Amino acid sequence: MKTKSLIAIGTFSFLMFGCAHQMDQDAKVEERIDALLKQMTLEEKIGQMYQLHSNGNVADYKELIKAGKIGSFLNEINPTTINELQRIAMEESRLKIPILFARDVIHGFKTIFPIPLGQAATWNPLIVEEGGRVAAVEATEVGIRWTFAPMLDVTRDPRWGRIAESLGEDPYLASVLGAAMVKGFQGDDLSEPTSMAACMKHYAGYGFVEGGRDYNTTIIPEVVLREVVLPPFKAAVDAGVATAMSSFNEINGVPSTGNSFLLKKVLRDEWNFKGFVVSDWASVAEMIVHGYCADEKEAAMKAVNAGLDMEMVSPLFSKHLDSLVKEGKVSIKTIDEAVRNILRVKFKLGLFDNPYVKIPQTSKIYADSHLAAAKEAAIQSAVLLKNENHVLPLTEKVKTIAIIGPLADAPSDQLGTWVLDGDKNYTQTPLKAIQAEYGKKLNIIYEQTLGYSRDINTTNFGKAVAAARRADVVLMFLGEESILSGEARCRADINLPGVQSQLVEEVKKAGKPIVLIIMAGRPLTIEKEVNLSDAVLYAWHPGTMGGPAIADLLFGKAVPSGKLPVTFPKTVGQIPIYYNHKNTGRPPHENLQLIGSIPPGAKQLTMGYVSYYLDAGAEPLFPFGYGLSYTTFEYSNLQLSKTDLKKKDEITISCQLKNTGKYEADEIVQLYIRDRVGSLTRPVKELKGFQRIHLKPQESKTVSFTLKTDDLAFWNAELKKVVEPGDFDVWIGPNSKDGLKGSFRVTE
Ligand code: GLC
Repeated sequence: MKTKSLIAIGTFSFLMFGCAHQMDQDAKVEERIDALLKQMTLEEKIGQMYQLHSNGNVADYKELIKAGKIGSFLNEINPTTINELQRIAMEESRLKIPILFARDVIHGFKTIFPIPLGQAATWNPLIVEEGGRVAAVEATEVGIRWTFAPMLDVTRDPRWGRIAESLGEDPYLASVLGAAMVKGFQGDDLSEPTSMAACMKHYAGYGFVEGGRDYNTTIIPEVVLREVVLPPFKAAVDAGVATAMSSFNEINGVPSTGNSFLLKKVLRDEWNFKGFVVSDWASVAEMIVHGYCADEKEAAMKAVNAGLDMEMVSPLFSKHLDSLVKEGKVSIKTIDEAVRNILRVKFKLGLFDNPYVKIPQTSKIYADSHLAAAKEAAIQSAVLLKNENHVLPLTEKVKTIAIIGPLADAPSDQLGTWVLDGDKNYTQTPLKAIQAEYGKKLNIIYEQTLGYSRDINTTNFGKAVAAARRADVVLMFLGEESILSGEARCRADINLPGVQSQLVEEVKKAGKPIVLIIMAGRPLTIEKEVNLSDAVLYAWHPGTMGGPAIADLLFGKAVPSGKLPVTFPKTVGQIPIYYNHKNTGRPPHENLQLIGSIPPGAKQLTMGYVSYYLDAGAEPLFPFGYGLSYTTFEYSNLQLSKTDLKKKDEITISCQLKNTGKYEADEIVQLYIRDRVGSLTRPVKELKGFQRIHLKPQESKTVSFTLKTDDLAFWNAELKKVVEPGDFDVWIGPNSKDGLKGSFRVTE
């Protein structure tokens, strides 16, 4: 028999054995759950559904744990305390059910990676998975076995502070990277001591808050929910995510925490999710504030009957479920189902067999390999937005540099939001990295000039200008302090804070090339500053190793490859502005008449009637998917394997990509489609694939994508996911605006 056949049979057998083994493992877990449930009192079952915030004082919880009234703690990170709390559960409680310890490990535990929006700019699932793995290895070392991440809220509103935690505006990109983050956190086997249960959040629709104001109302038609909001969560479920977190917001009048459409119909009936759902912080109690529940008891009833399994911090389950069951308002079946889901995750984590954290001989926290991974993530997350006259990378011709601005040496702000355990003393800042690496051969003049990003004190402007006059190139490190993004940190104006913009204007007067490096938790409206600069590198909040990463990029040891995961508006008034928008009946054309060119006394009918702003046009500052390199790439020879498809067919779309510059570099090649006509209107573009291609100078490669007709499916008015026959456009290109265009037709 041919070798290939033997390999095929061997592979098939291995996979079948693997599936059978997994099914057998799962069955054993269900048996253990059944056996335990039979022994549990109602009080003990309700205890599993309660998560407390730990104040670190074991004595405060001893009796509750002994009585089996606590299922989980969040925010306990002392391994000795964790083991003592666990010992009480395992030795002094009746049924010895282990406690699950959780923490917000969002983009690193101690070694901090770029904020998730920055990680999204890598468009690299391997980088994102590695970041999750490093975070899990470090956090589990102290006993954390459950993280409240990945945050999968697609958002189109940079006013919203939590865009910093998101993976951007596109459901496909967020799906691919969210699944990678789940895999990183959970590893190959959840029962491994370095595996951490992931938590897909905030389920769902949180990124659509009105006005970009956190916790606010969302009105989302189901087709948009299905098309844009839910896909990343479905991808996380398909990747085996262990838990989910209900979001603070209401959707169309019903808070997610009490929303059975989300928690039962979609999550359980459609997706067959087997993990458990935890509320967000006191979001059960907040259903009273929303005006969805009259009192605590009704909130507990509506949440648990909608499918919420565990309550974070607010005690309504603990206080009211017992009486609700006795009054017949909550069935014991509902309680059992919730407890079953929680126990299933605890069994899969191996907590019953290995409940205690074992402090390793040598800590992996801040391991060189972790710092190296964080540096590579920061390198790949940086997006080059402008580079005129090849001012970057800096060459030997540059003898004196001026480093100016409040974010050149800001070890805490550089880490970004949601850094509960990262230590700023380990942060390597750009100033320190450049001084260490280039201080001997370069004359470096440093002028912080502003105390912090919001500073309005212009006293030191003169020194900054004087430094610029003495320099060959000026590096300006500007942006946002970390406190200006993240939860509840929304901004109605997303310009550079304080007087940073004026600082750029003043430094520009020195007449030297300006390289602008921005650290921020969101897109900023920086058109003026971009125009005043020769080069712009957007570094987000790049984490612990942001300094060495930025230094390598500025001096050419690394070449920028990042692409924007979110559209950059010219002005906050353009929001929402995103690439996968609808065409409308009057799309903007090229030569729009802008406010400055309208002649005085212009009559009503003398100007066009299309969808745009007189004072901001219709185009963003930078489009989704945009990012430059130090080299140039040429796209040519688009080929389609066929132009007429039947349903269930596949089509291969390819092109030639050539590195036409002089730097070896990566290009993130993107594939977009457009369904020209649908029973519901379709977006003008939809991302359907991307690949990172590495090319040496003058090297070229064929880049191919395969699309199935199922990839063209969308949710129709009957809420069915369908592929409709018709004409489609397809692009392969460097971003959502440019690229080689082809077309094909799908027939029945
Ligand atoms: C917060 C956040 C959520 C976080 C939780 C626990 O309010 O909304 O993302 O995981 O509470 O800290």
